[in-house]
Amino acid sequence: MNAIVSSELLAQPATMPSPDLEPPAATGRRIGDVILAVNHITLRFGGVKALTDISFDVREHEIRSIIGPNGAGKSSMLNCINGVYQPQEGSITLRGKSFKNMNPRQVAEAGVARTFQNLALFKGMSVLDNIMAGRNLRMKANIFQQALRLGPALREEIAQREKVERIIDFLEIQPWRKTPVGRLPYGLQKRVDLGRALAMEPSVLLLDEPMAGMNVEEKQDMCRFILDVNDEFGTTIVLIEHDMGVVMDISDRVVVLDYGKKIGDGAPDEVRSNPDVISAYLGAGH
Ligand SMILES: Nc1ncnc2c1ncn2[C@@H]1O[C@H](COP(=O)(O)OP(=O)(O)OP(=O)(O)O)[C@@H](O)[C@H]1O
Ligand SMILES: [Mg+2]
Repeated sequence: MNAIVSSELLAQPATMPSPDLEPPAATGRRIGDVILAVNHITLRFGGVKALTDISFDVREHEIRSIIGPNGAGKSSMLNCINGVYQPQEGSITLRGKSFKNMNPRQVAEAGVARTFQNLALFKGMSVLDNIMAGRNLRMKANIFQQALRLGPALREEIAQREKVERIIDFLEIQPWRKTPVGRLPYGLQKRVDLGRALAMEPSVLLLDEPMAGMNVEEKQDMCRFILDVNDEFGTTIVLIEHDMGVVMDISDRVVVLDYGKKIGDGAPDEVRSNPDVISAYLGAGH
C-alpha cells in the first residue's frame, strides 16, 4: 500500500521537500479545452458505494491529480475511466464521445492509456518486449502475419520497433533493453510500465501511484519523466499520487476524494487551504 500522506504539507504552502522541479507554468505549455469529462459517476460494489456522484473535467495538456486517503476511491475512478468498471450512474466522455459500455481495449484504442498501482508487466519478458506489447494496440498486421513474419508484418514490426526504441531512449532504460523485467529494481519496473503505456501513443495517460515505493532519487526521475511526457508529447495526464510535495509541485489542478465523495477541486493552492481537505487528511486514520 502506500506512502506519504502529509497533512502538514497541505497546511503549509511555502515548503516543499519534493524534487527540484520547475512548476508547470514555466514550461510554457498551453492548457486547452476539456478533453475528458467525468459526469456524476456513482459506482457501487454490492452495498458499498466506492464513488458517489463524482464530476470533474480534465483539460488538454493538463496535469490533473486525484488525491485522497486510502480507500477514497481514486483507483476505482481510474478503473471507471478506462472501462475496467462500469459505473451504475453517470457518464464519461473523451472529446465529447461517451465511453459507455466500452471495454478497456476500446478505451485504449480511443487514446487513453494507464499504468497500474500494482504493476501489470510480464516479469519474464525483456524490457523491449514489454514495451512492444503496449505497441501491439497500434499494429495493423494480423497475428498470423506477425507470427510468420510475412512481408508487410515484418516491415511493420521494424517501424514499430523504431518507435519503441525511441521510448526506451526517452526513458533512459537502454542498458536494460534485454533484461527480464522481473530482475530490475522496482523503480525501473515502474519506468518500464510507463514505457508500455506510452507505446500506445495515448492522448490521455492515467497514472496510478507511479512513485509509490520509490526512494527520493527514483521519485525525482519519475517526476521529470512525467513532466517531459506532458511537455514534449503534449500528453494530458491524470495522476494519482500520495506524495503531497510532488502533487502540489507538478499539478495544474487537483481533485480530492474522501470516502468516495469529492471534497475539493481546484489549483494546488486552493486545495491546500480547503478546510475539508485538511480535516480529511488530519483525520486519515485509514
Ligand atoms: N473490486 C472491488 N470489489 C469490492 N470493493 C471494491 C473493489 N474495488 C474497490 N473497492 C472498494 O472501493 C473503495 C475504494 O477503493 P479504491 O481502491 O478505489 O481506493 P483508493 O483511493 O485507490 O485507495 P488506495 O490509496 O489505498 O489505493 C474501497 O472501500 C474498496 O474496498
Ligand atoms: Mg488505489
